[in-house]
Amino acid sequence: MSSSKLTATTVLLLTLTLLLQTSFGANNFLSCVCSNPQNFTSNTPFDSSLKTLITVLTSKTSLTGFGQASFGQYHDQQAYGLSLCRGDVSSSDCKTCVSEATTELLKRCSYKKGAIIWYDNCLFKYSDKDFLGRIDHANKFYMLNVNNVTNPDAFNYKTKELLSRLAEEAHGNPKMYAAGELKLEEGKNMTVYGLTQCTRDLSSDDCKKCLYDSIGELPNCCNGKQGGRVLGGSCNVQYEIYPFFKE
Ligand SMILES: *[C@@H]1O[C@H](CO)[C@@H](O)[C@H](O)[C@H]1NC(C)=O
Ligand SMILES: *[C@@H]1O[C@H](CO)[C@@H](O)[C@H](O)[C@H]1NC(C)=O
Ligand SMILES: *[C@@H]1O[C@H](CO)[C@@H](O)[C@H](O)[C@H]1NC(C)=O
Repeated sequence: MSSSKLTATTVLLLTLTLLLQTSFGANNFLSCVCSNPQNFTSNTPFDSSLKTLITVLTSKTSLTGFGQASFGQYHDQQAYGLSLCRGDVSSSDCKTCVSEATTELLKRCSYKKGAIIWYDNCLFKYSDKDFLGRIDHANKFYMLNVNNVTNPDAFNYKTKELLSRLAEEAHGNPKMYAAGELKLEEGKNMTVYGLTQCTRDLSSDDCKKCLYDSIGELPNCCNGKQGGRVLGGSCNVQYEIYPFFKE
């Protein structure tokens, strides 16, 4: 009896450890899209613009958590890019993430003229077209925790309230990032945690629009679920019932 109890406890602890590693430590790959299927040729001016872009953005992003740049002199030689680390990620973890993300992206979308990759800790995107300063409506996906909450209507309502508050905070803030929590019911120990963030090439108004659009999509994926995310090329929103960001 006691041994089966021990096993159950160990499993629970392992699950918790994995959850904590997932949320705080490890630099998890989430998804990628080769957004422009056209190929470029190696050792061309575009290839060299892209290499410069990656080098410059990797070092730039580690300083402030965001970088945007373009290289190349003529129309068909230009590479545009941006990279963003999650607002609570340290400078060294940020650098590690962008460097892993770009290496992985060059493998997964090799010689493609446009691509985007998401990790827990960062996002990297490049294209031969100038996309900077505009909301990316094309690249978006959902993630969810399959477990249901017990009171979906009240929970969805509170989650939307929290994320809307965070969207207001993020779009007015120079880092375009906000994370926080909301207690679900008075007297009960249950809290929802949320995070909102935009790429800083957007204007404050577009950041707000991007975040509210994403919050509006949560019912499509994550109605009554214990966790959900809408990840895009210009903004992210996420909620969970456990703390998943650093204060
Ligand atoms: C790109 O190159 C790959 C293999 O080299 C080829 O299969 C594919 O059809 C090419 N794509 C385009 C859009 O030309
Ligand atoms: C959550 O609820 C849905 C619909 O009520 C159900 O189909 C699904 O199996 C539930 N998921 C879990 C993990 O209990
Ligand atoms: C609430 O729950 C968390 C873990 O689920 C625990 O660490 C904390 O002490 C609890 N707080 C209260 C006031 O019960």
